[in-house]
Amino acid sequence: MRNFCSQKIPRPIGDFQFLQNKQEPIYLEIGAGTGDFALNWVKKNSNDYFIAIEKTSEKFKKFINKYEAAGSPSQLIPVHANAINFIAHFVKENSVKKIFINYPNPYPKKSQANKRFHNMPFMSFLFTRLINDGEIEYATNLESIAKEATSLLTEKWNFDIMKCKKILDVNLASSAFEKKYLERGEICYRLQFKKK
Ligand SMILES: C[S@@+](CC[C@H](N)C(=O)[O-])C[C@H]1O[C@@H](n2cnc3c(N)ncnc32)[C@H](O)[C@@H]1O
Repeated sequence: MRNFCSQKIPRPIGDFQFLQNKQEPIYLEIGAGTGDFALNWVKKNSNDYFIAIEKTSEKFKKFINKYEAAGSPSQLIPVHANAINFIAHFVKENSVKKIFINYPNPYPKKSQANKRFHNMPFMSFLFTRLINDGEIEYATNLESIAKEATSLLTEKWNFDIMKCKKILDVNLASSAFEKKYLERGEICYRLQFKKK
């Protein structure tokens, strides 16, 4: 597998320099979708900065509408960018307490395996952004992906698995996709990893 080289990653368009002054450690979400998880999270954790990154314009627009309807909470920072490009340029080493990856596209075909986050060299860079006891929380509705992510994070990327929670109750849904899967009667898996 090739190494991740942040200098080779294009800088995302937008002025994100203001983020450099945010109090650390911060929390990050990769692939925030319509922002439901992030908005729920800041309601419960009002003292910490949460940067929620979404790459598609369509989802980001819906996120912003929900963010404004919620009174634009100041500790939540919605970012419209590809998370890989954004993190490569604007997230400092040793500055993140926890990274959430909620229901990433599973890219189910064998030929797409290298597009799954847990298979990417980018994971080694994410590791360096986390503080010493930093964590990754990874959610999926697919048992095979939960198993694959657990193997990769523990055997390749130097994380310990702390918890694997199965969610079945739709009333406990914390993101739009989690709600959709639970309403279909599927099991959702929430995996919690800690940096070794
Ligand atoms: C299946 S949806 C899940 C959305 C949300 N996390 C949820 O649980 O409801 C995956 C989201 O990740 C976004 N995404 C995928 N790759 C991304 C990347 N590299 N940077 C930012 N967003 C990304 C997609 O645009 C999509 O909105």
